[in-house]
Amino acid sequence: MNEVLIEGRGLKRYYHRGSETVKALDGVDITIRAGEIVSILGPSGSGKTTLINLLSCLDAPTGGTLTIAGRSVAGLSEDQLVEVRRGLLGFVFQQFSLIPTLTVRENIELPLIFLGRRPDPQKTQQVIDAVGLGHRAGHLPRELSGGQMQRVAIARALIVEPKILVADEPTGNLDKATGESIIDLLKRLASEQNLAILLTTHNTVFAYEADRAITLEDGRIVSEERQLSAATIR
Ligand SMILES: Nc1ncnc2c1ncn2[C@@H]1O[C@H](COP(=O)(O)OP(=O)(O)OP(=O)(O)O)[C@@H](O)[C@H]1O
Ligand SMILES: [Mg+2]
Repeated sequence: MNEVLIEGRGLKRYYHRGSETVKALDGVDITIRAGEIVSILGPSGSGKTTLINLLSCLDAPTGGTLTIAGRSVAGLSEDQLVEVRRGLLGFVFQQFSLIPTLTVRENIELPLIFLGRRPDPQKTQQVIDAVGLGHRAGHLPRELSGGQMQRVAIARALIVEPKILVADEPTGNLDKATGESIIDLLKRLASEQNLAILLTTHNTVFAYEADRAITLEDGRIVSEERQLSAATIR
């Protein structure tokens, strides 16, 4: 079995609004291993974003235990959480979030600049090629299609060589065929680079292409389905 990267037990995230308590997550057990793709499905408001924000240390649980790369994250300060995320997690968003005035190459290298690391042109080229944008490195985001923009965003997440890629509705702004090509790309990256991928989606077809599809309802897991794909039998 592959290395466990994330382990959550009884995860809760309650929000208090006046006298009302919103139980965004209400006791979720989840384990993520290296190289596996886990999709999270569920109706709007079921807790998908809340769950992946907890699992990627962007937010802290109000109950339960959470271990990330062997480290218990309960009670860590914001600075310590940043340290846990660094080099371990890469993020991809529904809206791509590219900087419009920077080229594809510059957008991809941006996380390295934030980390104070000098970009290695060869490494950047390798990542650009991995997402199939070799011919677009000098272009600006507005010169790209939505699917190509999402590929840039994936490359930008990969440049820090994360072990886990977290994607909240990565196909949400794309048509079906383009979404499918992004899912294919994620699957290829997971198997070639032993990258764990955690994604949310409203699309059941995409969700069931993952190694595991977890369905949430009202902050709880109501079903979990496994696929016997290459990644799980490896
Ligand atoms: N900051 C917050 N304060 C109060 N309630 C919140 C907050 N963030 C989320 N919630 C509530 O938690 C619940 C789960 O929200 P979440 O964003 O995780 O749902 P989701 O499954 O990602 O939905 P969608 O498919 O629409 O993206 C919702 O009822 C939401 O209103
Ligand atoms: Mg959401």
